[in-house]
Amino acid sequence: MLIKQSTGKVNKDVISQKITKVGDGPLLEKVDNDVTLVNQLKGNIKNNLSHSKKEGEQNEEEWSTQSENLKSVDVKAFRQYELACDRVKQFYEEQHEKQTVAYNIQARINFKTKSRARMTVWEGLERLNKLLDESDPDTELSQIDHALQTAEAIRKDNKPRWFQLVGLIHDLGKLLYFFDSKGQWDVVGDTFPVGCKFLKKIIFPESFKKNPDFFNPLYNTKYGIYSKGCGLDKVMLSWGHDEYMYHVAKLNSTLPPEALAMIRYHSFYPWHQEYAYSYLMDEHDEEMLKAVKAFNGYDLYSKIDQSYDVEELKPYYMELIDEFFPKKIIEF
Ligand SMILES: [Fe+2]
Ligand SMILES: [Fe+2]
Repeated sequence: MLIKQSTGKVNKDVISQKITKVGDGPLLEKVDNDVTLVNQLKGNIKNNLSHSKKEGEQNEEEWSTQSENLKSVDVKAFRQYELACDRVKQFYEEQHEKQTVAYNIQARINFKTKSRARMTVWEGLERLNKLLDESDPDTELSQIDHALQTAEAIRKDNKPRWFQLVGLIHDLGKLLYFFDSKGQWDVVGDTFPVGCKFLKKIIFPESFKKNPDFFNPLYNTKYGIYSKGCGLDKVMLSWGHDEYMYHVAKLNSTLPPEALAMIRYHSFYPWHQEYAYSYLMDEHDEEMLKAVKAFNGYDLYSKIDQSYDVEELKPYYMELIDEFFPKKIIEF
């Protein structure tokens, strides 16, 4: 798969990178599945899904209430936790070492200054699916399956159309893996702020000791380069598919702030599950947290649901995409 630059010329470095990475696609998938599994089990321990909201809140914001369909899921049926833990630990050792302030600034400069690909959202989903699937016939669940299962679970619960669309596109940012990522560590995994102290509530916190920012007095204090209550929008979260897709969606869609927050923070587990870094939040973030939590169950637990016929569902989701992405062809 060749990605053309905006000039129409094909960048040779990009091509060779693509060739290597297409073969690595399943590796990304395995790490991502393991990360999901660990988060599922962590969530199970905390018994998050059994928390129901008070009556009054349910009436006020019906879309943000927990799904009855998800509550009954038997999480014990998932694969071996121990095995996943080892691989996940290795992955986080690399991620925690390399996600520095300097890297994050560079990743954001690259995002704003480089052109990657122009296509529709649906084409993006198909491309992601094809690239990851082609080299691994054993992949249990493709990207498009996960996208549709998440979206369908949300739809089944009669949530708003924008919420359904979030289900469909929340992982589309994994396309980053085939553009200019350095590996898996800057695409998937839980996210966390850079530029301030790495908190113990982040998974495998001891691995931050290899991160040069850990010893930098500018970055290793409680607030670091931020200030109390500054709002998460001003906080630089580790670069990956969430942050990347948030920017793509913000620039190209009419999705509401709740939807953008779901996309941006869905891997920020230390925050949405542990309430870490709450001292950096502003009032708006409190509202967004409700939205992100409402989405989380669908992301984690819809994976065990049935597989859908892509062609059958395509017309419905094409219309949904057009409703919120008026430009149709967008810059990824
Ligand atoms: Fe994700
Ligand atoms: Fe997901």
